[in-house]
Amino acid sequence: MSISPAFLDELRNRVPISRIVGRKVTWDLHRSNQAKGDWWAPCPFHGEKTASFHVDDQKGFYYCFGCHAKGDALNFLREADGLDFVEAVKVLASEAGLPMPDRDPGEAKRADRRSVLADAMEAATRFYRMQLGTGQGAAAREYLAGRGLELDAVEKFELGFAPDLRQGLFNALRDKGVPPDVMDEAGLVIVPDDGGAPYDRFRGRIIFPIRDARGRAIAFGGRAMDPNARAKYLNSPETPLFDKGRNLYNAGPARAAVGRGAPLVVAEGYMDVIALSLAGFDGAVAPLGTAITEDQLRLMWRISPEPVIMLDGDEAGQRAARRLIDLAIPMTGPGQALRFATLPGGQDPDDLIRAHGAAAMQKVLAEARPLVDLLWEREIEGREFDSPERRAALDASLRKAIARIPDDATRNHYIAALKERRFELFGGRRGAGRLTPGPREAGASRGGNWRGKPEPARAQTRATPLGQQDTGDATLESMVLALCAVYPGLAGRVESRLELLAPADDGRAALCHDLLAGSDSVAGRAALARIMEDAYVRASPLIRKPDDAEKAAVVLANILDKIEARRAAMSELLRAEAEIQGLVDEGLTWRVSESARARHRAERPEIEDSSDLNEDRGALSARLASYFETRRKRDSG
Ligand code: UTP
Ligand code: MN
Repeated sequence: MSISPAFLDELRNRVPISRIVGRKVTWDLHRSNQAKGDWWAPCPFHGEKTASFHVDDQKGFYYCFGCHAKGDALNFLREADGLDFVEAVKVLASEAGLPMPDRDPGEAKRADRRSVLADAMEAATRFYRMQLGTGQGAAAREYLAGRGLELDAVEKFELGFAPDLRQGLFNALRDKGVPPDVMDEAGLVIVPDDGGAPYDRFRGRIIFPIRDARGRAIAFGGRAMDPNARAKYLNSPETPLFDKGRNLYNAGPARAAVGRGAPLVVAEGYMDVIALSLAGFDGAVAPLGTAITEDQLRLMWRISPEPVIMLDGDEAGQRAARRLIDLAIPMTGPGQALRFATLPGGQDPDDLIRAHGAAAMQKVLAEARPLVDLLWEREIEGREFDSPERRAALDASLRKAIARIPDDATRNHYIAALKERRFELFGGRRGAGRLTPGPREAGASRGGNWRGKPEPARAQTRATPLGQQDTGDATLESMVLALCAVYPGLAGRVESRLELLAPADDGRAALCHDLLAGSDSVAGRAALARIMEDAYVRASPLIRKPDDAEKAAVVLANILDKIEARRAAMSELLRAEAEIQGLVDEGLTWRVSESARARHRAERPEIEDSSDLNEDRGALSARLASYFETRRKRDSG
């Protein structure tokens, strides 16, 4: 049903949001300012003792400073009470004392047709369920029992059986007065193109009724009992009732379970959902024979702010995870997070529960990791970061991924989380610089914590094309100095570039100076002796037999190019670092713009704990107001 925005505004204006929210929370009356419609309470969406959940009657919005849940009265009814949109509107309308608007005639007609189809689906559900109890259903009952599904499962999931008859369902429904065109439109029968008699779509299969979140039967999944059947599962086609990308198996019962505190677990198949549910994990859903879609993600988030995606440990499961990361990142935000649980050893949830029981499943769930971890792992997987270029490439890909997160606060938390992992990976001892910045790097070092000298390629470096060429900065530097020492006049030809080489090692720096100034120092000579011992230098024909000055000049220019490119990448890395830090600061601004005192506190790495900021309520509320104002402008602009 389409409801006009004007009617929705009318509802929002008539019903103070605190009246809706107040049924679910206990106001902190000390902190609230009732006269101004400014309310505070412990957040109903996450466990907490302090009141960081703010409700503003003027703006008609709620916002939690702890978990970032936010929205208007309709959102609240949907999130906290699990109502769908129309149900939430009905609640608000009755609060406001307004009748629901009339449906438009076209829509009413379509709705009537859908309810006719839904009735046919209910009749089919009853038929399939009954068949499971008949003589013809004996093999099906045995099959189910063999998979550990007894009466409780059959009841709970309304499992049925489609007999192996051409017109079993067709005849049964026709006798009940269901017209063939309705059966056809509901996807229950197939009408041959040649005008032949319609025949049952599902034959000789276990039937899993699929209901939408409100409990209407919208489709069926049918599993073959014969392991050699052409299709293991056959599902209803898309119909006016069934849009497979917008529904989830078991969504209704899962929503109720999540309301009782169960986690929302997203598995791959019907049998997994049933196994999970029977093992006590009632908040289980599955997509319907396709990869998870955006609409399904939205549906999950209406049920739970943090669904756990349960993926098989096999290659296909991992591929699905990578795909889902890309799908989810532009959608994440407060109340829209994901966790990922990976099953061991190529098992699916059904296998794991049958083999190791509910405790094993509980353990897998407890070890679920947030989306940011999966993103990080995907980016570093199979790569080594032993050169500035590689690190810079990592930063670039992370920045690209992060840039797709629309919500400012969430994006900043991603940046902070990824920064931390990056420091760990790069062995970042904060502030423990081992390399004095070269002349060109000094300017870029603002905010750059990573001051490490690029380490030589590690032994485990993969044989990538880049890895194969990778001889390390120090060796390239050795080659430059050796060539300049061996070929008279060469240093003069690259004077300015040699000046910029600025080796970190004191001996080399002395040698460099000697080569440029034509002087001779003890330190410089000692450094040259060491350089000539370098295996790479000794192996070079240009050094062993110094007779081709022109070739030496070309090689020298190439090596200098390479060193300079590396350093450019290094300063790019430092810039990236500064940029990342800059972004974090910017995200903090809205909270701190009005109070220098708060600024000091908020620049601590964690920004969630602003609910503890012991400031006066007026200032906090004013910032909230300006925050929503900014958000509103951005959303509408
Ligand atoms: P799986 O092959 O993992 O099946 O497909 P399963 O759920 O473990 O089922 P069992 O244990 O073999 O009975 C996962 C889901 O993919 C869809 C179904 O929704 C299934 O539940 N699927 C699979 C199909 O739609 N068609 C198929 O032929 C196979
Ligand atoms: Mn299975």
